Amino acid sequence: MSDFAELTLGDKKFQFPVITGTEQESAIDIAKLRDQTGYITIDSGYKNTGATKSAITFLDGELGILRHRGYSIEELADKASFLEVAYLLIYGELPTEAELASFEGELKKHSLVNEDMRKIFEGFPADAHPMIVLSSMVNAMAAFYTDGDDNLNIVRLMAKLPNLASWSYKKSVGEPVSYPKDSLDYCSNFLQMMFATPKADYQVSEVVSKALNKLLILHADHEQNCSTSTVRLVGSSQASLYASISAGINALSGPLHGGANQEVIEMLEAIKNDGGDTSKYVAMAKDKNSGFRLMGFGHRVYKNFDPRARIIKKAADEVLAALGINDPVLKIAQELEAAALSDEYFVARKLYPNVDFYSGIIYRALGIPTNLFTVLFAIGRLPGWMAQWKELKANKEPIGRPRQVYVGETERPFVAIADRK
Ligand code: MLT
Repeated sequence: MSDFAELTLGDKKFQFPVITGTEQESAIDIAKLRDQTGYITIDSGYKNTGATKSAITFLDGELGILRHRGYSIEELADKASFLEVAYLLIYGELPTEAELASFEGELKKHSLVNEDMRKIFEGFPADAHPMIVLSSMVNAMAAFYTDGDDNLNIVRLMAKLPNLASWSYKKSVGEPVSYPKDSLDYCSNFLQMMFATPKADYQVSEVVSKALNKLLILHADHEQNCSTSTVRLVGSSQASLYASISAGINALSGPLHGGANQEVIEMLEAIKNDGGDTSKYVAMAKDKNSGFRLMGFGHRVYKNFDPRARIIKKAADEVLAALGINDPVLKIAQELEAAALSDEYFVARKLYPNVDFYSGIIYRALGIPTNLFTVLFAIGRLPGWMAQWKELKANKEPIGRPRQVYVGETERPFVAIADRK
């Protein structure tokens, strides 16, 4: 691999350094491009543009590789707890037993939310989307937790997000909020805050808690995706951690990003309500004029398969079998999955089921309400967002400020209102 790139503009030649990462990815460093040539680059959606050098997550879209701090997603999903993965992402190494116990103890210590925040929360309408509530409440934390350094605020957010997430569910079902219990692990605690009521405790099923643990790991980080890039850009202005994460939650809420898992289930329910004929919808997906798009298939980075989808598919099959779920929507999902994995139209276009396709199925099987699916994605992605935000600050990266090519009106004289047509 060459250590510089040469650009020819007219009769001039320019050279720019090439950098190569630890996984042999290479990039042309164009930091001096505009100063030397007067040109900028343009790359709508930044698909070919690196925003940073990061040591947190490596993914290879062609080979379907995903690693966090060098550990494969397959091993982490199979052998680690979500808190171990969160610790690895945020602090750089897998925790020792003592470190994990201390981390978990800190999270339990900070799991309550300031009761005055409930006044903000009570102001939301019952049908407010939980992602709107969550991003607002996270942003509001900057007003209630004004002391402490970034490390304390990272622990506070990690500790309180499941609590805030359960509040948004309780509001939507008109039930009083539950409180965290120090006797439960992170995932079980979230489930009991969601489903316990003043009348009855919630008995956490090990199958459900284990599946949730795996789901959160599979969503923990994914290099410079839309919401992570948002967190980094907001953080680059030295805005607070809470403001940066709130912005990330808002970016994740979009149906093209974290909202895709909710869109998957809504698509499956629409097919069921229309008679459940999956072959009709497979045909529509192939017909460009139908306006119908299969949600939860393919991926903008993984060209052949999403490694997380393979892991989550296995977990979905296990959960459905263990819980004895017989849900017509899930049957439709299995028919669409079979079509996508066998039909040449989808195989040729790499439209394989992705992580959103299967996560929606598992969340539904776990009894998570559809409008909370993306909130679960946010709980999983939180340690990744915070690790990336922490790295940006540690590396003292400059404020993000992309350029543009102007394509509007050229200079023209002002027109008095009386003379405007
Ligand atoms: C993610 O995990 O953030 C999604 O797969 C989207 C992406 O990586 O672009």
